[in-house]
Amino acid sequence: MKEYYAERVGTMAGGELGDLMRLVGRDDIISFAGGIPSPDIFPLEELKEIIRELLADEPRQVFQYSSTEGRIDLKDYIVEFLSRRGVKTSREELIITSGSQQALDLIAKVLVDPGDPVLVEKPGYVGGIGALKCYQARVTGIDMEEDGISIDCLEETVKKIVSEGRPVKYIYLVPDYSNPSGARLSAEKRRKILDLAGKYNFYILEDTPYSELNYYEERLDFIKEYDQENRVILLGSFSKFFVPGLRVAWVCAPRPFIDLLSRAKQDADLASSTIGQLVITRAGEKGLVETQARRVQPFYRERLEAMGTALDKYFPAETSWFTPRGGFFFWVKLPAGLNSKELLAKTIAEEKVAFVPGTAFFADPQDGYSYLRLSFSDIKPAMIEEGIKRLGQAIAGYPG
Ligand SMILES: Cc1ncc(COP(=O)(O)O)c(C=O)c1O
Repeated sequence: MKEYYAERVGTMAGGELGDLMRLVGRDDIISFAGGIPSPDIFPLEELKEIIRELLADEPRQVFQYSSTEGRIDLKDYIVEFLSRRGVKTSREELIITSGSQQALDLIAKVLVDPGDPVLVEKPGYVGGIGALKCYQARVTGIDMEEDGISIDCLEETVKKIVSEGRPVKYIYLVPDYSNPSGARLSAEKRRKILDLAGKYNFYILEDTPYSELNYYEERLDFIKEYDQENRVILLGSFSKFFVPGLRVAWVCAPRPFIDLLSRAKQDADLASSTIGQLVITRAGEKGLVETQARRVQPFYRERLEAMGTALDKYFPAETSWFTPRGGFFFWVKLPAGLNSKELLAKTIAEEKVAFVPGTAFFADPQDGYSYLRLSFSDIKPAMIEEGIKRLGQAIAGYPG
């Protein structure tokens, strides 16, 4: 049959990262590619008990649809959760989504017309860039520094785009321990970005999946906390610090924007999973969500430090990397001339080690050949050392 696919099929993400995700769980490969939380720290016994209780107490609800915007009891819990983190909101300003990945898609659907300028971190989250490309946004990267995006680069870029006559719609930021850079946006820069958003009139999409994964007790205020002009759309997810399989996340934004997201969500999936929402609500009411937020910190800190130590020990002097203080990732720069995609083919075949080549994290993949992302979250410390040793040897022995 003749193929009649839409043009956007050409801009859809998936190939590269999907292939790498398939390596997760293969026993013969040490994979630093996944970027997924570790089931070793999931609160499995407590979750089994909650599911047993739900099935006994409310079996009819468990298997029923919920409303498009999400269950009220879950929203009330999120209001409380956010107020403990300094953000005052109400259930009217929340919508539950099927993971924050769905929120990234719905927000682009509501805000982006083809050709609209949107700014992202450079390097930035592949799924966020993918959602934007799918709606044909004109995606421009803003350089990352160790304390988050460069404010000079941001202002210059915005001025240039505005002078061309088409205003910037929004900037997509992961302020805490970003994916893939691991960088955290400083408090000072958070304020400056909000000022620039006011001056040039754009939204800030603040995505916070790693904010609880802060291993040295260094929490910073969300940008949303200082948002006097309703220009920050705050995104949170239970995936990374609690469990991802329930697919529960939320968007906090002014009511008119939530209405639009709700209409977009109706067209996408009608509603998020009811059982997922019920489990998170009960876990929240029992204090398990907060307990888990504390429990994950020493667990992942040990892995982060194991990777830092192994990199120091085994990576050649010509490599450099950023040591994060939270999240799941190290971002590594390879020696000049070394191509991370070619290196990956070699390390999978010869060393049985995988990682994500930097190309995935740039609007223009060309920018990423000399970088790689290493995730430490789902590998035991001893295996981290073994994998980094093999990778270090492969880099050192690479021809040229
Ligand atoms: C920065 C960022 N945002 C959003 C997501 C999507 O997470 P979820 O859909 O599980 O909430 C991820 C997952 O890797 C991520 O790294």
